[in-house]
Amino acid sequence: MEERIAELLNEVNAFSAKSREEIEFFRIKFLSKKGIVPALFSEFKSIPSEKKKLVGQQVNRLKNRIHEKIEESLAALKEHTEETSLTDFSLPADPVGLGARHPVSIIRNEIIEIFTRLGFTVSEGPEIEDDDHVFSKLNFPPNHPARDMQDTFFIEKGEDETGKIRDVLLRTHTSPVQVRVMENQQPPIRTISPGRVFRNEAISARSHCIFHQVEGLYIDENVSFADLKQTLLYFAKEMFGKKTSIRLRPSFFPFTEPSAEMDISCSCDGKGCNLCKYSGWLEILGCGMVDPNVLDFTGIDSHLYTGFAFGMGIERIALLKYQIKDIRLLFENDIRFLRQFKSAF
Ligand code: PHE
Repeated sequence: MEERIAELLNEVNAFSAKSREEIEFFRIKFLSKKGIVPALFSEFKSIPSEKKKLVGQQVNRLKNRIHEKIEESLAALKEHTEETSLTDFSLPADPVGLGARHPVSIIRNEIIEIFTRLGFTVSEGPEIEDDDHVFSKLNFPPNHPARDMQDTFFIEKGEDETGKIRDVLLRTHTSPVQVRVMENQQPPIRTISPGRVFRNEAISARSHCIFHQVEGLYIDENVSFADLKQTLLYFAKEMFGKKTSIRLRPSFFPFTEPSAEMDISCSCDGKGCNLCKYSGWLEILGCGMVDPNVLDFTGIDSHLYTGFAFGMGIERIALLKYQIKDIRLLFENDIRFLRQFKSAF
């Protein structure tokens, strides 16, 4: 028996495992109920009593050694697997998809960039507005057609005790932001207000019920129509290229007097193309001298100050600049379309 125990001890010492299963088999072989060690203990009962002490020690030593070996093997295996599961830095990385800015954001940022170079600040205001800021203080008469359900999304219609209109609505232009600036600040004022606007219009290739505008306002002593013209010429050249020229046509807005609409020369150089409908000109914005009524309504002395204002649709500029034929493409979020626009802004 002593010899067998010595052999088993050698076997245990020589054991090494590559997997948990091998260690488990080793444990079962020696320590399970029907394993080698319990068999040795039952054999031990029948050996002569003078040998019992010695053999007992040997069996116990074997048993302890088996326990040790199992611990050692498990620890070695753990170390090994931890080492191999570390990240393999030599593997090629997954490609990271780089996003692109939306063309409307690119044009908006470009417009902001051009006007901030001229000393304009950027102001923002709420999209849900009241009648006062969207219409009344901008010199819209109470029965002006633009207040009609046709154009405006109303949230709440109402009047106060004196019969004054107290409608809550989605702003139809960003001019109310300028009203808020004029109410809170005395000239000199030089600010642009980019933002989202809403009009109750049928959606088509040329118009949408939600779109974006940038409007500008400049109020100081002695601001003239020549200042307006020069500012817009600078903008047109920066936005559409140095060769661009502008044309101002008389127009009407309740909040400006005189008012004009501005066209830029078409890139076909007046030869006529589909884009300009063979006219050589493209309409891009509305503008004018701030009506003295608007200054007075917002707490600015119209005898002391004059100002100009202008407003343009960002989508319209984007369509012209990128020669996109359908405004709806700008609202569909089709990644194949959006991916084509790269920008520095
Ligand atoms: N608020 C006008 C619009 O939305 C644009 C405009 C702004 C025209 C300032 C003139 C002066 O149509």
